[in-house]
Amino acid sequence: MRKPILIANWKMNGSLHANQALLVRMLARLRPFRKAVDMAICPPFPYLFQVRDLLGYTGISLGAQNASAATSGAHTGEVSATMLQEMGCRYVLVGHSERRSLYHESNGVVGARFRQVRSAGMTPVLCVGETLEEREQGMAMAAIESQLQAVIDETGMAGLSDSVIAYEPVWAIGTGRTATPEQVSDTHRAIRQFLERHEAGLGESTRIVYGGSVKAGNAAELFQSSQVDGGLIGGASLQADEFSDIGTALANTVAEPDSECDTLD
Ligand code: PGA
Repeated sequence: MRKPILIANWKMNGSLHANQALLVRMLARLRPFRKAVDMAICPPFPYLFQVRDLLGYTGISLGAQNASAATSGAHTGEVSATMLQEMGCRYVLVGHSERRSLYHESNGVVGARFRQVRSAGMTPVLCVGETLEEREQGMAMAAIESQLQAVIDETGMAGLSDSVIAYEPVWAIGTGRTATPEQVSDTHRAIRQFLERHEAGLGESTRIVYGGSVKAGNAAELFQSSQVDGGLIGGASLQADEFSDIGTALANTVAEPDSECDTLD
């Protein structure tokens, strides 16, 4: 049984004042679900310390948005995985599409970052997803498989076990355009089949979350399929009530699991 997980990706947003106001309201509203759903907040690096303090003993984890592919040394502007681990991070996003497209992170670099996160004892949240062009050409799974393969090349299958995969179609991120529940469910199933082909049991055990314009209004529908183990939430994670309502929608799936879609074929 995979425990659902909800991850807030604040991207490059926030201020000391705004973070405090957001978290105080959000934490009060998320409290009822913290046993049923794993939760993590990924603020920008400078706010890790503040958010760690505010999260305290709520059971909600701290996460980061990226980690260097290098261990230490002359890498101005980079932050190492061990530093993040020392700050109390439990999860680290790796290979977010904004990193891949705006900062030209190749599959190889993403694989190296993933390995660093693993070596530092944290859980990588590997973001994969196709562009609109790739989807229209019927190449969505080929693109996703090559993103997954780059990590396998770097860490072997052992690296992927106990990691989280975030399926985020590039065309749905921050655009207000959401993948349909069928597209999400089908893609998650195909990712599980890919994992299963490489290692028996991995397809069933890996948590795969969806990200891309998830809102309170569409969350229940997206989380309905038991292929979907939660969400990676950008814009809506900056609004306490919106994010908490997404948390409610996810927690409700635990109470009423949809066993129908729980197969790989
Ligand atoms: P969005 O972002 O929810 O604003 O579309 C998701 C993400 O980038 O992780």
